[in-house]
Amino acid sequence: MKTQPAIEFKNEQLHIINQTRLPLFEEFIITDDYERIAIAIERLEVRGAPAIGVTAAYGLALSLKKISKEKYSDVFEKAYHRLASTRPTAVNLFFALNEIKKVFDEKKNETDIYNLLISKAVSIHQNDIDLCDGIANNGLKIFSKKSRVLTHCNAGALATSGDGTALNVIRNAFEKGLIEHVHVDETRPLLQGSRLTAWELNKLGIPFSINTDSTSAFLMQQNKIDLVITGADRIAVNGDTANKIGTYNLAVLCHYHKIPFYIAAPTTTIDKNCKSGKEIKIELRNKHELNFFDGKQITKEEYPAYTPAFDITPNKLITAIITEKSIHNPPFDFKNV
Ligand code: MRU
Repeated sequence: MKTQPAIEFKNEQLHIINQTRLPLFEEFIITDDYERIAIAIERLEVRGAPAIGVTAAYGLALSLKKISKEKYSDVFEKAYHRLASTRPTAVNLFFALNEIKKVFDEKKNETDIYNLLISKAVSIHQNDIDLCDGIANNGLKIFSKKSRVLTHCNAGALATSGDGTALNVIRNAFEKGLIEHVHVDETRPLLQGSRLTAWELNKLGIPFSINTDSTSAFLMQQNKIDLVITGADRIAVNGDTANKIGTYNLAVLCHYHKIPFYIAAPTTTIDKNCKSGKEIKIELRNKHELNFFDGKQITKEEYPAYTPAFDITPNKLITAIITEKSIHNPPFDFKNV
């Protein structure tokens, strides 16, 4: 079973399904303009750590598409910085941009540099698809029985260029008869759970229900959750993990209720330059996302708001981290992974 990929590269253009319009409208942004691609990442029209990385890789490669040779260096540098400034937390963005930059730095004098960059973006894209498959296979090992699972945000096909991370583990487990029900946190304030994860689960035919984020404690107290699994935006060497705001709440709740708490992510989400979560930069979103809802004002515009997009779950609250390489158990040490 497959769902709609977040992005496709066709006829030298990037096709992005506009995730701010889902699930009510299935609309596409079709562009070869790196500025439009940067805006799409900032607006969360494309989002999720791996998908952001692959999208930015195409954006940077496309920056040379219509440019004369003498302007290559200037335009490339401008596009690199523009794309790198879009969202600070997901390390996959910087990983992918730097992979494209390495090719540019080595081969910028070759006549077909534009095609070389596009080929590199295509290989980053293909690699992401393969990583998702590896995660889904390794993730099967966490299921000892048909389970009731809770997830937060969206770590599915929409968040990667393959079939997803945490949601791909759930999809694979469902196909093997190991999923009874998926509880989906709505994921305030932008509702990646109730809009995007629900859309994917519905297409996959997996039984689910959406709940407000504050319902998860009650679900656990009623013994309705066997395990929690989420994705990640950046994992430090010691296993501390940045993911969508509210993930830490779940890990604390799991600890209290003695429920296993898993992270699923590709090794491209591990940041070997971050020793611990303290070094991870957390994105603050525009307060408009709290004062307004879907364009409608819901509280006074002048009320101040605190708007972190992500939080850090300390390693000691994580039962295991599933990557394409294996299931990593604590104590985590990702120096050589
Ligand atoms: O702000 P978003 O929607 O980009 O946040 C996404 C998440 O937090 C995901 O859980 C994470 O990127 C993993 S996606 C495979």
